[in-house]
Amino acid sequence: MKGIILAGGAGSRMYPVSQIYSKQLTLIYDKPLIYYPLSVLMLGGIKDILIISNNETLPQYEKLFGNGFQLGLKIQYAEQKEPNGIAESFIIGEKFIGKDSVSLILGDNIFYGNIDFFKRALERKSGATIFGYRVTDPERYGIVEFDSGGNATSIEEKPSSPKSDFAVPGLYVYDNQVVEIAHNLKPSARNELEITDVNKEYLKRGQLSVEKISRGIAWLDTGTPEALLQASNFFGAIEARQGLKVACLEEISLHMNFIDAAKFRVLIENMPSCSYRDYLQKIYKDRAK
Ligand code: DAU
Repeated sequence: MKGIILAGGAGSRMYPVSQIYSKQLTLIYDKPLIYYPLSVLMLGGIKDILIISNNETLPQYEKLFGNGFQLGLKIQYAEQKEPNGIAESFIIGEKFIGKDSVSLILGDNIFYGNIDFFKRALERKSGATIFGYRVTDPERYGIVEFDSGGNATSIEEKPSSPKSDFAVPGLYVYDNQVVEIAHNLKPSARNELEITDVNKEYLKRGQLSVEKISRGIAWLDTGTPEALLQASNFFGAIEARQGLKVACLEEISLHMNFIDAAKFRVLIENMPSCSYRDYLQKIYKDRAK
């Protein structure tokens, strides 16, 4: 299973800061936004990852993660020249995907809580799995409608009269058909290759699973300055309460056995003195307890 993080886009809703850096590098409490979606892929056991972004931002991601070796990952980078749509990820990432299945996560999507729903999707051998999450503002998202048996009957992108309150979060799991499907898409009225059209095609083929995410999981929006502040406050509160960090990539690498304790120690030694380092130091000391 390969993983793609799509982390480009125009970012115009974040003006003026969007003039100098991309939204996915914004600090969410104590770490860049992109750490959160990357942590989801890692917790799903995915180590082979492609980050797609625009030319200006890619060097910044490369500075953050390099080739991922230090985290036990293999990270590659690819450019999206224009924000031509989320589904373009599978055209840009075609070589990277090869004959594999692929999970795509949007670089601005944050999940917090038990991610078994994602792990179950990764175990499916064929077809596609997307998720449904109840929201109060369905007209802002891709929306999935269910019949009385809980089967998905329709999916619409940002409908003005939504048929349900279940939004489709930016986390998707596809078999290899996705590459061919993406190549055959036609741009939408807003001139984008829509991820919703990919999902509709799987639905038409009878190969789409839609799993509702339970209310115990937080799927946080980061689309506006208010939402970014809410997300920072949310993780600030949790981290202060538990003394545990969310989406701490080094800790996750150790936990997932992507790296051993010796490599973890090297990571700590290469960090400047700061509270993030102190935290990892504590994890290192407590690991045998
Ligand atoms: O967040 C979930 C929603 O994401 C889904 O419910 C929708 O079905 C899906 O279309 C998408 O809606 P958004 O309106 O949030 O998409 P947006 O254009 O804001 O793009 C989401 C992220 O992907 C954003 O951080 C920018 C990045 N992006 C987007 C496009 C269209 C790219 O990197 N390249 C692109 O071409």
